[in-house]
Amino acid sequence: MIRTCSIFRATVSCSCQYHNTISKMKLVKLSQTNDVMPTLGLGTWQAEPSIVKSTVYAALELGYRHIDTAFNYNNEEAIGSAITKWIDDGRGTRTELFITTKLPHIANRASDVEKFVNLQLQRLQLSYVDLYLIHVPFGFNCDPETLTPKVNQEGNYELDMATDHIATWKKLEECQKSGLIRNIGLSNFNEEQIEKIMKHATFKPQVLQVELHAYFQQNELRKFCEKHNIILTAYAPLGSPGAKNHFVTKYKYSPNTFPDLLSLPEVDTMAKKYEKTPAQILLHFLVKQKIVVIPKSTNLDRLEENKNIYDFELSEEEMNTLIRLDKGEKGRIFNFLFWKGVEYHPEYPFANVKKQLSEDDI
Ligand SMILES: NC(=O)c1ccc[n+]([C@@H]2O[C@H](COP(=O)([O-])OP(=O)(O)OC[C@H]3O[C@@H](n4cnc5c(N)ncnc54)[C@H](OP(=O)(O)O)[C@@H]3O)[C@@H](O)[C@H]2O)c1
Repeated sequence: MIRTCSIFRATVSCSCQYHNTISKMKLVKLSQTNDVMPTLGLGTWQAEPSIVKSTVYAALELGYRHIDTAFNYNNEEAIGSAITKWIDDGRGTRTELFITTKLPHIANRASDVEKFVNLQLQRLQLSYVDLYLIHVPFGFNCDPETLTPKVNQEGNYELDMATDHIATWKKLEECQKSGLIRNIGLSNFNEEQIEKIMKHATFKPQVLQVELHAYFQQNELRKFCEKHNIILTAYAPLGSPGAKNHFVTKYKYSPNTFPDLLSLPEVDTMAKKYEKTPAQILLHFLVKQKIVVIPKSTNLDRLEENKNIYDFELSEEEMNTLIRLDKGEKGRIFNFLFWKGVEYHPEYPFANVKKQLSEDDI
């Protein structure tokens, strides 16, 4: 049977099981462009370049159509190779994919935007990305040799105190107009910072990517995004079980508490009832609320597991049980303090973290 697939921007004639599978994936529509974004994406932070090529290829074969990466993950080249191979192998086309990447902290200034967009597109072997986010609201000075942040003698990161969100955003708008980027958004920005951009923007932020999971449900920010038609993407939707080790090993930074959402008894009870895994419960909980999730895995079984989150439905009572797990600000894992000194940047976004730090000093 030949039918027209209305899911993608391009009209695609298809008869295949592949498009049928895709049709079942839930989508959200982005403001202004009406582009659609799959509510499930593959996260790739800590996915090493040596393995991420085969991971991304396998994920695409499994039906993932949305990949989340960033300059800072150092894996754009490998991801680009996987996408190119998948397309060259005749497994699918570019228009079926939704690829997100991010402007790094070292390039968080108007004069660097175009250069980095072009460099990242080259690494990804793409002529455009579907979504480009400013990764963090603060900026660091860049070592031009290594394209890493400059660090001073005390081990503190050299902050670029002149970060100007509006000027940077205007450049993103230009890149979008010239077709290098289809959609634009922010990550780790607070309400005040977003509001300021919206006030000066010709093209408003369409997506906000923030930490969001059962322990940190971001209720206020969610209301704000809903009001302004901004789609929320949840990073660390499983509570980022791999992050603690990474913070300690790479930055010698050890957060006081670290959640273990996958072992929560409430989640376990629901997993048993629906013959699902705790990860599937946690992801379903978010996509049911139209929040995009981007769980990271480089394990084939878990890639498959994380995909199967749409074929059951938690009851209202169960949803409320999970909603009650929220710990508010206490549930935050990612405060970026592993970048020593970052809290002194004028655009450091988390007022509560700063307040807590100054109380600790007293
Ligand atoms: N914008 C930002 O500032 C920002 C910050 C952090 C993350 N992100 C994005 O969000 C993505 C997701 O966040 P995240 O990677 O921190 O955390 P996450 O997706 O909540 O958790 C990933 C960890 O959980 C494990 N895992 C995956 N599926 C599992 C399952 N079904 N059962 C048990 N364990 C499972 C993974 O290990 P295996 O690989 O071994 O399966 C990995 O260690 C990132 O990869 C990145 O793309 C963005």
